[in-house]
Amino acid sequence: MTRTRRLVGALAVAAVAVTALTACDSFTTSPITAQEFVNELAIPPLAESTVQDGVRTFHLTAQEGETDFPGIGTSETWGFNGSLLGPTLRAQRGEQVAVDVDNELSEPTSVHWHGMHLPAAMDGGPHQMVAPGKTWRPTWRIDQPAATLWYHPHPHGETESHVYRGLAGMFLLDDEQSLAAALPKQYGVDDLPLIVQDKQFRDGRLSMDGGSEVGILGNTILVNGTPGAYRRVTTERVRLRLLNGSTGRTFTFAFEDRSMTMIASDGGLLDKPLELDRLRLAPGERAEVVVAFRPGETVRLRSVKTDLGGVVVPGTAGGNDAFDVLEFRAAKALTPSPKPSWEPTAEADRPRESDASVTRRFVLADDQINGKSMDMSRIDEIAYVGDTEVWEVTSGQPVPHSFHVHDVQFRILTIDGKAPPAELAGPKDTVYLKPNVRYRLLLRFEDYADPTMPYMYHCHMLRHEDKGMMGQFVVIRPGQENEVGMPQMKGMDHH
Ligand code: C2O
Ligand code: CU
Ligand code: CU
Repeated sequence: MTRTRRLVGALAVAAVAVTALTACDSFTTSPITAQEFVNELAIPPLAESTVQDGVRTFHLTAQEGETDFPGIGTSETWGFNGSLLGPTLRAQRGEQVAVDVDNELSEPTSVHWHGMHLPAAMDGGPHQMVAPGKTWRPTWRIDQPAATLWYHPHPHGETESHVYRGLAGMFLLDDEQSLAAALPKQYGVDDLPLIVQDKQFRDGRLSMDGGSEVGILGNTILVNGTPGAYRRVTTERVRLRLLNGSTGRTFTFAFEDRSMTMIASDGGLLDKPLELDRLRLAPGERAEVVVAFRPGETVRLRSVKTDLGGVVVPGTAGGNDAFDVLEFRAAKALTPSPKPSWEPTAEADRPRESDASVTRRFVLADDQINGKSMDMSRIDEIAYVGDTEVWEVTSGQPVPHSFHVHDVQFRILTIDGKAPPAELAGPKDTVYLKPNVRYRLLLRFEDYADPTMPYMYHCHMLRHEDKGMMGQFVVIRPGQENEVGMPQMKGMDHH
């Protein structure tokens, strides 16, 4: 522990020096209050479900409540089926699922299945609002590889506040490949969901006051809602399903003395295990890593200084912050774990750049995309079922952005003309955008044509999304062009 503190000190000094020299990333730091790691990590329960007529049904109730944050105080928070966060939903590829979503809040909300490939009407975006006291029941077939997905509200203009107050949970998908893999897979034992979020506490209460250009940068790190969390380890290896569930802060996860084996990105397993010293995750991004432990040791997962890529914003973007996230305490004797490995999937079905029929360009700047603010009644892009497309995405200003596309998992073809680093070469639905760098993404729209219900693409820094850095696309079949429009606008003049 002494060693950790000394390292933190050294990093803080280094960070100040770098700032002074280059005047980039952040002008000031947004200090995370040093935490004692004395609270046992909460693990979200696996959601119960019932299977009837071949449909697996889950139940989520968005509700208000109070949460006692040990060592900090009691705050009003929001959660699903409880006062904070929500249970972990889990389903297998091929299953038909349904979710009864009850809204017991006093305002409308929605629940979006982030990373899920599904019909737009089931997506839970701003067009699927659930009024207070009402129930929404989306249903779809799980039709994508095993992955660590998540769910959260998506009400237009209010997403930051709904997520920040505590509405978020994980949605894990399994398939034959993941079930057969040599990986830790006992949920809550050696396979741990880690929803990492920074929150601002003032006078012991959760506060949404203020914030910077990226939104709120909190002074406290919560993992699964637990401040200062520790976790007992009983196996030689542990799989961490990391979710950056923050509204604005980008983390760079690292251990001070060991590497991690990355096994999966947003949309599922990589082609092969990848040794990494550090891993940057922007808001909305996920990764699965496997970490090895020695008997009896105590070691901390940290977030180190983040390379935001020449960001200059008023105030701070948090890039210079370095802090501990979670302490692991290994037992004296550890159960053996397999070395991570799995059968790679066949390459054959993967979209290729040579299949791409369309190139679209997106520039994110000034809370807009391509100079337009989100308009719920405007369809920005029309894609065709079966088409492969290239999306060229650039942040046009020195501000951090995290670009997310609904419905699909994409592949990053190039970043600034070069092949992406291995940790960004797997299936992705969200990607950090360094300012003024072109990210070329390859996407394929496989099915679910619907000319009257759009999917979203947007910045996952939720304050930016809420301010309008979002657009809408529909997926249609040839011949449906004349039907394109919003459901409430059908038969109306569009302008
Ligand atoms: Cu995680 Cu459109 O959102
Ligand atoms: Cu999403
Ligand atoms: Cu942004």
